[in-house]
Amino acid sequence: MSQSERLTPQQLRSHRYLGPDDLRSFGHRSRQKQAGFSTEDFAGKPVIGILNTWNDLISCHAHFRQRAEEIKRGVWQAGGFPVEIPVMGLSETFMKPTSMYYRNFLAMETEEVLRTYPLDAAVLMGGCDKTTPALLMGALSADVPSIVMPGGPMNRTSWHGEQLASGTDVWRFWAERGAGRMSCEAWCSLEDHIAASPGHCMTMGTASTMTAIAEAMGMTLAGASSLPATHAGHSRMASETGRAAVELAWRDRRPTQILGRQAFENAVTVLMALGGSTNAIVHLMAMAGRAQAGLTLDDFDRISRRTPVLANLRPTGQYVMGDFFDAGGLPALLDQIRDLLHLDAPTVQFGTLADYLEGAKIWNEDVIRVRSNPVCPTGSLAVLRGNLAPDGCVIKPAAAESRLLQHRGPAAVFSNYPDLKARIDDPALQLTAEHVIVLQSAGPLGAPGIPEWGMLPIPKYLLQQGVRDMVRISDARMSGTSYGACVLHVSPESYVGGPLALVQNGDMISLDVAGRTLTLEVSADELARRKAAWVPADPSFSRGYGRLFHEQTTQAHEGCDFRFLHADGSVTPPPSIY
Ligand code: FES
Ligand code: MG
Repeated sequence: MSQSERLTPQQLRSHRYLGPDDLRSFGHRSRQKQAGFSTEDFAGKPVIGILNTWNDLISCHAHFRQRAEEIKRGVWQAGGFPVEIPVMGLSETFMKPTSMYYRNFLAMETEEVLRTYPLDAAVLMGGCDKTTPALLMGALSADVPSIVMPGGPMNRTSWHGEQLASGTDVWRFWAERGAGRMSCEAWCSLEDHIAASPGHCMTMGTASTMTAIAEAMGMTLAGASSLPATHAGHSRMASETGRAAVELAWRDRRPTQILGRQAFENAVTVLMALGGSTNAIVHLMAMAGRAQAGLTLDDFDRISRRTPVLANLRPTGQYVMGDFFDAGGLPALLDQIRDLLHLDAPTVQFGTLADYLEGAKIWNEDVIRVRSNPVCPTGSLAVLRGNLAPDGCVIKPAAAESRLLQHRGPAAVFSNYPDLKARIDDPALQLTAEHVIVLQSAGPLGAPGIPEWGMLPIPKYLLQQGVRDMVRISDARMSGTSYGACVLHVSPESYVGGPLALVQNGDMISLDVAGRTLTLEVSADELARRKAAWVPADPSFSRGYGRLFHEQTTQAHEGCDFRFLHADGSVTPPPSIY
């Protein structure tokens, strides 16, 4: 079908459920009437599914019930029939062991909901970290026309005269408390202010990164991702998204027609220009696996080397998302990097990405920098390799103390997270600022779920001496709101016998970000001896979702998707330990 062609009502997918004069369609129509709808409400209209990731424990989506009504308003206006379908809300704060453990669960639920119900198009309501990638992964696999309604960042907030950043400042004040410089009363008072409205974290954490990426990939309305959650414009955007979904249905514009190689390269470019979250690498690899976009870790490093960081947003920079919106939002940033983008990439609005930049203007050149005055000239994220991470690992140089980007020091090894918690503050370890803290068993299968433990704590006694950053290495992820010289996503992970499992206390490790290497200064012979003596741990789960996760999850450099959901199965087979 050409771009401008439209389906007839009889060609709609939902017509097969609701149109024919047969027994099953009688059942479907009679049940719509049971729900209080008349023939006029649904006959011949596109059915628009509104996939709502609301629940009472996902506070970032507290406004989603109202937004769902506003989306419905838009769907009705455009002549569609809206149906709201609750799907799993991935609460970044509450889900244990980590919301990442359930990203693939929501992706599967999304795919199956889109496939089984009579939907002609869908609005995907995402915001809090893993919801956006999960919804997009599912929509890609089901390939039903879809548009993302980004949840929007929460309101700016301040405390004791200082502007706060959700997430980022929690780590910072916790370090202050650890150093004995913050009272218990002050800490409790901070609790009332750090997250002051519905909406996702207002830093350039994973949520802001992934919704901005969804926009840059053409999967939201232009400018939608920067709109604050409580802004009246967010409600209007929700309705407009509903109207756009109806058009997507009539024109049968599918995710695989939008999310091609160009869209992925645009996504990586925007990730770098935003100084965005390291987590986006894992999510984009998983999405690309579904789309068969041929994305590799090296694409991230290549694009990082040519892309300036222009968003002066925390944790890399100074401001928060409300400031970014006021400064012109994502279109203003994209406008600065036109030459680095595929402007002819298609969008859900039936034009190209270039259309999203129309009228873009920067209103505050400190928040969104012009090309001649970047926050960092290049190198937002770097992919490192070496004998400690043969399949790669990741660091965010822009959020680390620059003196640590070239570093050599002795390893202080913790065998798992409980071990780290139990011993990190023990002065008997006599750690110095030169030490390299290593955490094992924190990866996709080892933890399990590759949790956000990667900003490993600095020993309290070093905090008290004024140390605020150290080189830290793990197979975990780190929150997009975190910072520091943290080497993450070490692949293969220690649980499957990757070299990270073989590091011992006192081994010298050298990090060279400019050279993109991470080296364990131990001979290959010695590592082979250690490997021979290495014993894998038992899996954490023997049944249920945990078992599925254990058997199917790929390594970090492949996106941690389930092997059987990858589009063509071209991922590494499970390690031999199964
Ligand atoms: Fe939901 Fe940060 S906790 S986005
Ligand atoms: Mg997070």
